[in-house]
Amino acid sequence: MAQVEVKNDGATVEIADGSLLADLDGKCSILFACKTGSCASCKVRVTEGMENLEAPNELEQSGLATFATDPSERLMCVCKIKKGKIKVEY
Ligand code: FES
Repeated sequence: MAQVEVKNDGATVEIADGSLLADLDGKCSILFACKTGSCASCKVRVTEGMENLEAPNELEQSGLATFATDPSERLMCVCKIKKGKIKVEY
């Protein structure tokens, strides 16, 4: 199982290796609205474990080009975790 620590919640959520991080919806305080990479409600800063995330796919690249201001930012709804642990905050 992969782990996602959400600093704002002071809690860690476990999800299956290889999961789309939209699976965190309802399990943490990150807000998921569109789930298509087009609204940025799920934008977080990855503070540890970026290497445990898949590279941004086309949908995420498009959203990041519009909404991200820092390379540490990712859109959780269209991002996959490979395995291991990441720490995020928003
Ligand atoms: S929920 Fe809209 S960009 Fe992720």
